[in-house]
Amino acid sequence: MSIASKAASVTFDAVTKAFGPVVAVDQVSFRVGAGSLVTLLGPSGCGKTTTLRMIAGLEMATEGRILIGDQDVTSLPATDRDVSMVFQSYALFPHMTVIENVSYGLRVSGLPKSAASEQAHDGLALVGLKGYGDRLPSELSGGQQQRVAVARALVLEPQVLLFDEPLSNLDAKLRRRVREEIRDIQQNLGLTSVYVTHDQEEALAVSDRIIVMNNARIAQEGSPRELYEEPADLFVADFIGDANLVDAEILSVEDAVASVLIGDLELSLPSRGLSKGPARVAIRPQAISLSESATGGGMQGIVRKSSYLGSHIEYTIETAIGELFVIDGRVAQAIAQDSDVSVELSQQGVTLVRSTESAL
Ligand SMILES: Nc1ncnc2c1ncn2[C@@H]1O[C@H](COP(=O)(O)OP(=O)(O)OP(=O)(O)O)[C@@H](O)[C@H]1O
Ligand SMILES: [Mg+2]
Repeated sequence: MSIASKAASVTFDAVTKAFGPVVAVDQVSFRVGAGSLVTLLGPSGCGKTTTLRMIAGLEMATEGRILIGDQDVTSLPATDRDVSMVFQSYALFPHMTVIENVSYGLRVSGLPKSAASEQAHDGLALVGLKGYGDRLPSELSGGQQQRVAVARALVLEPQVLLFDEPLSNLDAKLRRRVREEIRDIQQNLGLTSVYVTHDQEEALAVSDRIIVMNNARIAQEGSPRELYEEPADLFVADFIGDANLVDAEILSVEDAVASVLIGDLELSLPSRGLSKGPARVAIRPQAISLSESATGGGMQGIVRKSSYLGSHIEYTIETAIGELFVIDGRVAQAIAQDSDVSVELSQQGVTLVRSTESAL
């Protein structure tokens, strides 16, 4: 297949979509580079599907401009855009065989039956379903049906491939496998893909870049690592990975390094443009270390809950700055409930964050 050569960028320039009084997408701008996979991540109702549907031309923008490659497609109908979409519900035709499902779009676009069938077989091989062409969708597992849906979108060799929560009907194990397959195919073929999910782990795993949306707007855009390590505000810190959000005090700032008081612990952290005064910090559960000697140099705490999860132990620790959720990999040295502990913070995994209100 020659998809890579056709892969095109997608550009949103101050795009708004209103459904009557409901503003589903509000002044959103971003660019998806050709051949990259960008994820739209955010809570239910934040505008992810609406954004995707505007790329496909299934919804028309109320304001702003949408480009695919260099072409302004803002008012182009879906049928004239070179985009295919994989839906959450697979949307396979139940009475058609797998091969008929995959060749359907090609036939509709005028390809003779034999050529369409040949390309459909190539598409099925790409998703690891060689030899399944004569089955009906009902004779496949959920994961196999989802791969047929991916093959059906792939064979159209679109400039842009869209995925709307493609894995949400699959169980946890299969979700991981199919998401790795989708990522492999996307990278091998150099496809431009926009992927919608509300699962932060899935987003971190598959994306070149992630756009976090909240209330119809972009909260932050960046690489998975940037979003996890440098969340712009409390919303992003809380949404991407677990975080303990606690009050802190910036004692002083010098050369972009803040001296921060968290409970009775003092840490030097990147100031991230904040100045002296009350502040908030996001503390990752892995950044907290516990020791049983209550006389340690750390902050005092009491173990309120502890859950053994095989590869790690999760603790809830009561401290002067509130309850802290802690993930500890030292399963051999479990600390019993009600023990006194000394709590220390590693620099890595503690971040000063703007409160979401002041970000608006
Ligand atoms: N056709 C429509 N008419 C009116 N309102 C709509 C329509 N489609 C979406 N909305 C509203 O626009 C907002 C964004 O919806 P959208 O489907 O884009 O959210 P989403 O981020 O995909 O959510 P989810 O994770 O639940 O799928 C919601 O408030 C929704 O109710
Ligand atoms: Mg949606």
